[in-house]
Amino acid sequence: MKKIEIKTIFIKKRSWENLCVEGWIKFNRDNGKIIFLEINDGTTINNLQVTCKQENLCNFEQIKNYKFSSAIRVFGDLKPTNNQKTPWEILAKKIVFLKQASDFPVQNKQQTNEFLRNIAHLRIRTKFQQAIMKIRSELAFSIHDFFHRKGFSYVATPILTNNDCEGAGENFKIADDKNNPFFPTMTTLTVSGQLNAEAMSMGLKKVYTFGPTFRAERSHTHRHLAEFWMVEPEIAFCNLKDLMKIIEQMFKVIIKKTINKCQDEFNYLAQKTQKNMVATLQKLLASKFIRLSYKRAIDILKDACAKGQKFFDCDIFFGKDLAAEHEKYLCEVYFNCPIFLYDFPSEIKAFYMKQNKDNKTVAAVDLLVPGVGEIVGGSQREDDYEKIVKKCHQKNISLQPLQWYLDLRKYGYYKSAGFGMGFERILMFITGVDNIKDVIPFPRYEGYLKY
Ligand code: 4AD
Ligand code: MG
Repeated sequence: MKKIEIKTIFIKKRSWENLCVEGWIKFNRDNGKIIFLEINDGTTINNLQVTCKQENLCNFEQIKNYKFSSAIRVFGDLKPTNNQKTPWEILAKKIVFLKQASDFPVQNKQQTNEFLRNIAHLRIRTKFQQAIMKIRSELAFSIHDFFHRKGFSYVATPILTNNDCEGAGENFKIADDKNNPFFPTMTTLTVSGQLNAEAMSMGLKKVYTFGPTFRAERSHTHRHLAEFWMVEPEIAFCNLKDLMKIIEQMFKVIIKKTINKCQDEFNYLAQKTQKNMVATLQKLLASKFIRLSYKRAIDILKDACAKGQKFFDCDIFFGKDLAAEHEKYLCEVYFNCPIFLYDFPSEIKAFYMKQNKDNKTVAAVDLLVPGVGEIVGGSQREDDYEKIVKKCHQKNISLQPLQWYLDLRKYGYYKSAGFGMGFERILMFITGVDNIKDVIPFPRYEGYLKY
């Protein structure tokens, strides 16, 4: 008896005698004389059919009662079927019942994503979550692979910190012992690894960090989490124009690779979300992303309003922080293509971004994509010590916890640029899943912390 994983069956695509397979029951139906089980072992989203005939199995009657998600071990011969949905079957010679799943709450009947979110510890047993999490894993690998091939070093940046990189006051505070504090300063969870990545880039030139980030952002939207993962590369001697090239290249390469690696998963999701998902993605990826200055975006939006376009907020002016509806219009209606929106007014952007010559805008860029909106936020960094200090004063940012960061500008800091890509946002984009809570195993958001 050879013990194999179900994935091997779908790779080898050959008949096989005397196999042993272990897995969980996904379907159990019978016509009195024959029982058809479908089992899955998590190595592929494809199920294996187990055909049980009364004459071959002494526990035939018991098998009829094996419940969804129970674990079994099957011995038998593998052969192809004529059924597209389950193209391989094992004719069972022996079935060992390993563990019962009694009253498992996720049944075969269609469950809503909202329902499944409340049993996130069990939802991975659905094909939908299996497909998403497999894609998540492959996408993470393709990101590491991309940067590794480009000569970037993977660096660790702290989770515990005493600075607020984005200056938005959204850090979660760590409760310390008031009488005997562990740390000498107020401690928070990081909102971004960028400042530390900048320090590392001054010795390694091209670095990236990829880890969890935390924001006490009270945005109840389908694209915000309190704990999300971010990829943050930082490149010394790089300007904004080159940064956009790198973002575009990375974006295209990692998505293409993931689509190739996860064909079964994408085919399955296409039935669930949108039919032509992969073709639509490929079309978008084949196009050159639009470069659109913030100033031009404002002109386009003003013009749209004048022509009767209805926005919830029609008060468009230079200096406005664009809302999701405005980004959506630019990305999905006006251009219908991913857009690099760049050169934002300095008042609406973080303190570390490089001041442009016009003294009004900073060298910042956001990548907006249809369906999701902002996926990437990045910038060239301010290299002038005095200018950063001035900006901190203007924005009421305390210099003391940032002194180490300001120091970087004293010692040969010529230029650097970098960006942060929301990992769950890009997952939403490629899977077509419309709620960010469904592309992370255990979501955290305002009012919800379980598991
Ligand atoms: O635009 P953000 O705030 O940029 C930064 O944090 C920079 N320090 C990055 C850098 O230059 N190294 O965040 C970057 C991206 C956003 O574009 C978005 O995709 C994602 O992180 N993001 C979130 N994703 C999920 N939930 C949230 N609450 C998010 N906030 C930001
Ligand atoms: Mg941003």
